[in-house]
Amino acid sequence: MAICLGDPDHGYYTTRDPLGAAGDFTTAPEISQMFGEIVGAWLAHAWRLTGAPPGARLVELGPGRGTLAADVLRVLARIPGLEGIPVDLVETSPVLRKRQAETLAAHAGRVSWHDRLAGVPGAPLLLVANEFFDALPVRQFVRAAGAWRERVVGLDGTGALAFGIGPGQIETAFDAPEGAILEVSPAANAIAEEIGARIARNGGCAIVFDYGHRRTAPGDTLQAVRRHGYSDPLAAPGESDLTAHVDFEALAKAFRAGGAVPHGPIGQGEFLLALGLLERAARLGRGRGTAAQEALRAAVERLAGPDAMGTLFKAMAVTPADVPPPPFPNAI
Ligand SMILES: C[S@@+](CC[C@H](N)C(=O)[O-])C[C@H]1O[C@@H](n2cnc3c(N)ncnc32)[C@H](O)[C@@H]1O
Repeated sequence: MAICLGDPDHGYYTTRDPLGAAGDFTTAPEISQMFGEIVGAWLAHAWRLTGAPPGARLVELGPGRGTLAADVLRVLARIPGLEGIPVDLVETSPVLRKRQAETLAAHAGRVSWHDRLAGVPGAPLLLVANEFFDALPVRQFVRAAGAWRERVVGLDGTGALAFGIGPGQIETAFDAPEGAILEVSPAANAIAEEIGARIARNGGCAIVFDYGHRRTAPGDTLQAVRRHGYSDPLAAPGESDLTAHVDFEALAKAFRAGGAVPHGPIGQGEFLLALGLLERAARLGRGRGTAAQEALRAAVERLAGPDAMGTLFKAMAVTPADVPPPPFPNAI
């Protein structure tokens, strides 16, 4: 999964911009500016609640086309103390870095790029990650004869890629029927722990959106998407987007292991609606024609509708241990 997505010459992300109608998939910030604006308002409010620490930096993990960062910055430009906030983008794809630089050209002097979170200077963070954790590689283990054996990729008799069972094992208390699959993402957990440690040490807050499940449970969620449809994960390595659902229970544990406090997850729809999605749509639609109103209505439905991104996609927030709860809908 790591090679298919990140190989310097042939990796899916390293060789293309996969977003948008002409690409393979569309993300929340690409659906509407309202998503990033609400994230910006949330970050600003959470920053104030955490004591408005000076020297804060806006950090985005996996910033895609830079659209979310641009929408967040439009909001932060109105917040005293955050107007000129430095921006750190953690991005491995050269193609997308170029795209981000174009989108954020107006902020050129204060944007830096990093291969990993470790490169971001120590400071209070306003961190956002949308559909980042699902792109990190998972390891899968198959229940076989009472053990969890690692699922591997090899070649079948015809020379085609095929799944098999390797010698590696994992010890866990989970029991499941023969053939069940358990996924773990050491890469996602390590980054979440690092975020937790930075927030515990330097202050700030984080908000993460992704599709996934609340509780750790067996299930095969590895999927390949190409041109807005599902495909076989082994069919065209490097040509389709590979993702796995995010295990929010594991992520919460990792944030806590770093020393910070996770909040949620709650549905993306619940989060956006509680923070004013309908009010923002009404404001943007005021005085505009039927087509614009209809586009806004459709965007609200896609971002927050239970059959669209409202329920499967979830939001999780992270704050330091010693501050009041953040503006998170179930805490309002
Ligand atoms: C699904 S896209 C999401 C883009 C953007 N957040 C959005 O919502 O439109 C995943 C992003 O993560 C980046 N990415 C994937 N693996 C990464 C890694 N290991 N480190 C940093 N960025 C990564 C991709 O290049 C891309 O920008």
